[in-house]
Amino acid sequence: MSTDYEITDHTYDVVVVGAGGAGLRATFGMAEKGLKTACLTKVFPTRSHTVAAQGGVSAALGNMGEDDWRWHAYDTIKGSDWLGDQDAIEYMCREAIPAIIELEHYGVPFSRTEEGKIYQRPFGGMTTHFGDGTAQRTCAAADRTGHAILHTLYQQSLAHQAEFYIEFFALDLIMENGECRGVIALELATGKIHRFRAHIVVLATGGYGRAWFSCTSAHTCTGDGGGMVLRAGLPLQDMEFTQFHPTGVYGAGCLITEGVRGEGGYLTNSEGERFMERYAPNAKDLASRDVVSRSMTIEIREGRGVGPNSDHIHLHLEHLGPEVINQRLPGIAETARIFAGVDVTQAPIPVLPTVHYNMGGIPTNYRAEVVAPRDGDPDAVVPGLMAIGEAGCISVHGANRLGSNSLLDLVVFGRAAAIRAAEIVADCGEHKPLPADSAAYSLGRLDRLRNADGDEPTAKIREQMQKTMQEYAAVFRTADTLEEGSRRIHEIHGMLENVKVVDRSLIWNTDLVETLELENLLGNAVVSLDSALNRQESRGAHAREDFGERDDEHWMKHTVSWLQESGDVQLDYRPVHMTTLSDEMDVIPPKKRVY
Ligand code: FUM
Repeated sequence: MSTDYEITDHTYDVVVVGAGGAGLRATFGMAEKGLKTACLTKVFPTRSHTVAAQGGVSAALGNMGEDDWRWHAYDTIKGSDWLGDQDAIEYMCREAIPAIIELEHYGVPFSRTEEGKIYQRPFGGMTTHFGDGTAQRTCAAADRTGHAILHTLYQQSLAHQAEFYIEFFALDLIMENGECRGVIALELATGKIHRFRAHIVVLATGGYGRAWFSCTSAHTCTGDGGGMVLRAGLPLQDMEFTQFHPTGVYGAGCLITEGVRGEGGYLTNSEGERFMERYAPNAKDLASRDVVSRSMTIEIREGRGVGPNSDHIHLHLEHLGPEVINQRLPGIAETARIFAGVDVTQAPIPVLPTVHYNMGGIPTNYRAEVVAPRDGDPDAVVPGLMAIGEAGCISVHGANRLGSNSLLDLVVFGRAAAIRAAEIVADCGEHKPLPADSAAYSLGRLDRLRNADGDEPTAKIREQMQKTMQEYAAVFRTADTLEEGSRRIHEIHGMLENVKVVDRSLIWNTDLVETLELENLLGNAVVSLDSALNRQESRGAHAREDFGERDDEHWMKHTVSWLQESGDVQLDYRPVHMTTLSDEMDVIPPKKRVY
């Protein structure tokens, strides 16, 4: 190993990795509670992917009609196709109300009703009276809600004196006897190595949408937290569940918010038919995302797609008129003009289901503590480690997330992590010294990749991974396609042994960083395809054509997946939590999921 790595040591109560909505909410919450808190981020905080969230954040505020957080919880459990943990869902939907009011007080510039209340729009799968009516529950700042929230949270973090390490790439967790003791990071501008010792490390690194060829995720969404967890010998959970957003711009993949359909937009096929009426007679275009994405895919497969190749669908909002569009949907009008050449007041937007969100991630309990099955305990806590946001799997989204429950998950569980961290740190006492070889594994890995002199450029391996995931980890799946996908992704994972990195420097070495990101993506991708092959039923976003029904008797359980050093995947299960935290909410028993 080369010896030119300078190590700088730091000690904090808490280190948060990632500065999106979850990371910032946790960071400032922890700083506010007096914890010495650092936030490491590979991009400037306000460039984190949360900035791209459009349609809104759910909470049963009841500003636009009667609402109840229990109806929100019911919708979330049904949306999850009964794979969500009901204790965590209860916590999220109840805490949504104070969490959003708090955001308002912190300064988020929400759109307003005539009376000055937070404006709330309808979103897919959100109902009243346990499924009977349409709820207006999604709090919006026009169609730039993530932008508004992210900037406010960064301002609050600065106001509370959290310390930021910006453009620092987290490499690996420091683990000792099953406990997390800190994290090793690379300072991108200088190539210096930083070793952070902490009572708690919080992974808020986002999803791994960039494992697919076409996604709405930023290029930074490379599953870095999941990669670190797998390398630490810990499992990921429910990785077979990938959300396709129904309305990505055809060709470009950019998001067109579900808020368009919330405001009255609708989909048509080549016959001009509003086909969602056939698939979801009640909710129609506002059925949940897995249902709409499958319906669109069926229309295209059966020859009713639009365009010269009959390979996409039309999204109409011309009828909404310029006033509604300018006031409530200005961002997507711009996106459609730039990426599809469409004036939305005159013509429909060409759209296609596009990878948008990973329901799977690092398993945690509702207090954001990472859990992993150990000694017969499926919920055993991994001391010193938390995970939140899309990186985590709490699991509030189960097999399918409802739109606008993601921004909510970020703020509620970012806040929950801060509350729990304050309790834990109060009992921690002095920091123990780190093991003498605490940086050795990570530096060895960094050095191997930096000097990698194989035959396969990073970009080529990445493209093969993305095309494989696109084709085989798709909306519809069968044993044949998943077996082939698994075979290919393992082969591509093996290609990392033969990767070629050209730039050997340590200063802004993007070649090296992309390779580190690729290793993270590939870890996530391999366990995703193997988990999908293993699950022999259809549930939420995991639609098996060879096992068309949900099978609660055998499969109402979370998949947990480890990636072994050999590259093999090991699978096990955790039970779904069919319990609630209080007597304010009853458990919702499984039933057929129709919209
Ligand atoms: O469609 C959207 O605005 C996306 C929202 C979400 O994924 O929660």
